[in-house]
Amino acid sequence: MGEYALEMLGVTKTFSKVTALDNVNLRVKRGEVHALIGENGAGKSTLMKILSGVYKADMGEIKINGEEAVIRNPKDAITKGISIIYQELSLVPELDAVKNVMLGQEKQKAGFINSKKEEEFAEKYLDYVSHGAFDYKTPVKNLSVAQQQMIDIAKSLSYHSDIIVMDEPTDSLTNSEIEVLFEIVRQLKKDGITVIYISHRLEELFILCDRVTVLRDGQYIVDEDISAVDKDWLIGKMIGRDLKDTFPPRHRQERERTVLEIEGLTGEKFRNISFRLKEGEILGIGGLVGAGRTEVLRAIFGADKIQSGSVKVFDEAVNINHPNKALKYGFGFATEDRKGQGLFLNQSIRDNIAAAALDRVSNAGFIDDGKEKEMTQKYFQDLRVVAPDMNKICKFLSGGNQQKVVLAKWLASGCKILFLDEPTRGIDVGAKYEIYLLMDKLVREGVSIIMISSEMPELMGVADRILVMHEGSLTGELKQGDFSEENIMKLASGEKLA
Ligand SMILES: Nc1ncnc2c1ncn2[C@@H]1O[C@H](COP(=O)(O)OP(=O)(O)OP(=O)(O)O)[C@@H](O)[C@H]1O
Ligand SMILES: [Mg+2]
Repeated sequence: MGEYALEMLGVTKTFSKVTALDNVNLRVKRGEVHALIGENGAGKSTLMKILSGVYKADMGEIKINGEEAVIRNPKDAITKGISIIYQELSLVPELDAVKNVMLGQEKQKAGFINSKKEEEFAEKYLDYVSHGAFDYKTPVKNLSVAQQQMIDIAKSLSYHSDIIVMDEPTDSLTNSEIEVLFEIVRQLKKDGITVIYISHRLEELFILCDRVTVLRDGQYIVDEDISAVDKDWLIGKMIGRDLKDTFPPRHRQERERTVLEIEGLTGEKFRNISFRLKEGEILGIGGLVGAGRTEVLRAIFGADKIQSGSVKVFDEAVNINHPNKALKYGFGFATEDRKGQGLFLNQSIRDNIAAAALDRVSNAGFIDDGKEKEMTQKYFQDLRVVAPDMNKICKFLSGGNQQKVVLAKWLASGCKILFLDEPTRGIDVGAKYEIYLLMDKLVREGVSIIMISSEMPELMGVADRILVMHEGSLTGELKQGDFSEENIMKLASGEKLA
């Protein structure tokens, strides 16, 4: 059979003007966990969609266990032992776990669905991944992302897949959920299943993966044993140059003016939150996923109800009960969920970037086309959005590039107080640096930023102060001298600092 479970050789794929893949090779050994990495838009998801029969390659061949395979459609891929957990989960929200696993492979008896048999069958795989950690009869929309992901994995297993692809699986998981996922991957490996693992979190690869393939600009660059490389080497291969530092130096000016003052703010998921935001500062908010960080910002922004407490903007007491009002007061909010609230997926990059900035590019009520183009072009370039031009429709962009457009939109909006919720999720290392640079530039110009991040190095590398939340309450504030992962973790788990 040879040592390779999968070989993709000379794979080329073009979408009208864009060459997404150019003569790419991927060789995956049987039973290994193989990392597939590259910058946003490098072609990772496209390569995997060819493997799973969603797209057809223009050229190239696929060998499974050394034998040439033609994969005509997704069903065909499943029959050949290949399944994918997509960047965007693909479960039916209204159905429960059992039904989702069984979708498309219903057990019938004399023409009727045999529920008993279905349950037994599905539970076997659900137990394997979740050890009964949640109720298999709950509609999956009421489960956490991690639990939904487990169901997706159980579904893959139930197809008796030999090769499972995971496209940025840890993107929206909490640290403890990531641990659980890693355990599942290790178990899969032990049972001889081959895993292809896509992630922008390079640290993970060293914990989990055996080998790595790097793509850049749709081309195959290299494959190597993980044990033979380090993070800097990987970054160099990914971006084609050295990235000296992860974070740009801070160029802040000390400013004393308070732009936002929150006093005793209480809502459904948080209570008694008080803090001040100064002009030209980046205030980080740390804490575990679910601590209520997003909810606090949503409430200030007028997207959720406030039960009590007060908000002052530039010393004026305000009652912001709708996001439109927030916009009028100069707020901007780049949300973590780019699909839901962040983007008009069916519109172009240009229209999306310009959406929140129409005032800035209008003249006496008319949009100045030249001005608009110049401004959108600037952010399009600064953030290095991978697309042939700004007229590309957003739904065709890679996941990370969609995120960049969301950010570009708010950076361009001319807002004075900017909320960023997990701004670099799914974004590659090179582009992260560009985003940090832009943030630094904005605060120098007097914009104030609140950034929620679950990545502690990011909080410490970018923020001037860090607030930490635990179960809906503020547990502490760290000044730069006190920044450490240990301190953030302590506060995030509700402990006091000595
Ligand atoms: N259906 C499509 N139509 C047009 N262009 C597409 C389509 N799918 C992907 N592309 C383009 O192909 C390139 C590769 O995208 P792909 O999604 O494979 O990147 P990726 O490596 O997965 O990036 P990310 O890390 O951001 O998820 C991008 O330039 C993208 O815009
Ligand atoms: Mg992708």
